[in-house]
Amino acid sequence: MIYDIQNEIMKLKKEKDICILAHSYQAREIVEVADFTGDSFQLSVKAKDAPNKNVIMCGVRFMAETVKLLSPDKTVYLANPEAGCPMAEQMDKEIIEAVKEEYPDYTVVAYINTTTDLKTVCDVCVTSSSAVKIVKKIDNDKILFIPDCNLGDYVSKQVPEKTIKLLQGGCPIHARVNASDVDKARALHPNAEVLVHPECVPSVVAKADFVGSTSAIMNYAKDSDKKEFIIGTEISIGEHLSYMCPEKRFYSLSKNLICPNMKSTTLMDVYNVVKGEGGEEIILDEDTIKKARVCIDKMIELG
Ligand code: 13P
Ligand code: SF4
Repeated sequence: MIYDIQNEIMKLKKEKDICILAHSYQAREIVEVADFTGDSFQLSVKAKDAPNKNVIMCGVRFMAETVKLLSPDKTVYLANPEAGCPMAEQMDKEIIEAVKEEYPDYTVVAYINTTTDLKTVCDVCVTSSSAVKIVKKIDNDKILFIPDCNLGDYVSKQVPEKTIKLLQGGCPIHARVNASDVDKARALHPNAEVLVHPECVPSVVAKADFVGSTSAIMNYAKDSDKKEFIIGTEISIGEHLSYMCPEKRFYSLSKNLICPNMKSTTLMDVYNVVKGEGGEEIILDEDTIKKARVCIDKMIELG
């Protein structure tokens, strides 16, 4: 049954010139029908380069909006209109405009997990894989990093030469794990390496063997000589890795590492969009695109 739906999706996407993008947190049956799977930065670059007229984003709203910002002439759909990122909703333009008045000489660096509206008042965007590199390259030693204080803390430790101000935002899913989860997992799997996402709290990051974006974690585990890994990010990453590297073992740092928003997209949602019966077309006005694109273009230039 799943196989039949997948075949139908593959057929329809070719006929209708559709590119399907899936974030690495998506379920396996969706990844299998995607033209490209990756982390937030890779998805935004792919979206820009894809030759297709239509794009379906299997991920959360800010990702579909990023595709639209980069490719305003394409028709972009969010496969499940309910899929939002709680972190992206934590801060709005008004809050940041007020903070900017307090810190007028700071460069505002926004994690890509922000709304398009908020991006219109930010200077540079970053993703988890590009944040350290981009912050190093910014021609200002004073950085206001929003909204993720955990990623911001990680960046500030990697770039100690800059003054980095943080606001109290972050991913509620990654914030569920703590240092004692790392100790417990290490006790259970003493030969495993701990790989975590920088959205985790600093005490978890401090205990990890490797810190990186979803793709960086996957590449590290694939290339490593080690055989066992404790994965400190959304549960899908360990699952995808266990198919890619059947000779290795992957354990989740916590069973709570499930993002309900990322998991809300189903194969049937994708099927309905390719049939022309579902999803939501992303519509952004020209002025918003122009303003929000400034920080996205800067991210691609510096990343
Ligand atoms: P990356 O894919 O950039 O690592 O980000 C993880 C995430 O939480 C996306 O919402
Ligand atoms: Fe947002 Fe966290 Fe879910 Fe990523 S894992 S989409 S940051 S809530």
